[in-house]
Amino acid sequence: MITDLSVDLIAIEDFLQQALPHQPSLAPHLLDAMRYVIDGQGKRIRPALVVATATSLGADRDIALAPAGAIEFLHSYSLVHDDLPAMDDDALRRGRPTCHLAFDEATAILVGDALQALAFEVVASAPKLNDASRLQMTSLLADAAGWRNMVGGQALDIKATGNNNLDIQTLSHLHEAKTGALFRTSVQFGCITAGHRDDDTFGSLSRFGDRVGLAYQITDDILDVIGKTDVLGKSAGADSRQEKTTYPALIGLDESRHTVVDLHQESMEILSHLNLNESPLASLVKNIVDRSH
Ligand code: IPE
Ligand code: IPE
Ligand code: MG
Ligand code: MG
Ligand code: MG
Repeated sequence: MITDLSVDLIAIEDFLQQALPHQPSLAPHLLDAMRYVIDGQGKRIRPALVVATATSLGADRDIALAPAGAIEFLHSYSLVHDDLPAMDDDALRRGRPTCHLAFDEATAILVGDALQALAFEVVASAPKLNDASRLQMTSLLADAAGWRNMVGGQALDIKATGNNNLDIQTLSHLHEAKTGALFRTSVQFGCITAGHRDDDTFGSLSRFGDRVGLAYQITDDILDVIGKTDVLGKSAGADSRQEKTTYPALIGLDESRHTVVDLHQESMEILSHLNLNESPLASLVKNIVDRSH
């Protein structure tokens, strides 16, 4: 199957630009700050996963763009809040000053709130999908974003900062919650777009999304140790400076790398069972695990 992930990325970028608010607003600086966050050099991995899953299962790319955009808005919100002084207190994101430094803290909190609401608006009104699909996506997004997953994971992450006393199993649950769940949801959105709402394909690919998401966060932890700030677009070494509980901190770099290789293999086995080992999805996953930023 021919894959051209860069075409997907252009379509995703166009969608995000047109879905950002253009109407006059009571607070133009809020819209400027929303645009600032989305215009940074994000890799768009999660929306690319939505699109690659949908097209690998035979759906049109265009139908996947609204679900994909919703995921990216939700994820971008999570980064703005993650960088706040009360959380990871980071100064650099997507190659430029974090939102609270470029604007101010109150604006950054409100930008996060607004992007999260926009994500739900976009998915709930996604064109060319039936109501049942839109409702299912809305509820999956709430589950991934909320107390059970992303926010729950972020709460434990903050609680565990400064004391490396989580065991590796708890840390893997933390990573699955804070990052894996949104990856799983991205893949599920692709499945639903292609009409696989509750079948074996949906179940297998949900598991696949979980594995890829865990691999993604472990790689993020590894890159924090071995990556360079100018390549990452965020401050390298921030995890150890803040005494974050990460995979390299708990089990070392080599063991962390092995875990990523194992997770990649597990995810490729799932794709093979579905005859998707030469699909756009398989190419994307290879890019994800081999990434250097
Ligand atoms: C950063 O995500 C936070 C994690 C969950 C690892 P990305 O590395 O996907 O960040 P962007 O979207 O490319 O900036
Ligand atoms: C953030 O994890 C996960 C989110 C849900 C936002 P990190 O704190 O490791 O992400 P970076 O390294 O700041 O991008
Ligand atoms: Mg964090
Ligand atoms: Mg962080
Ligand atoms: Mg990190």
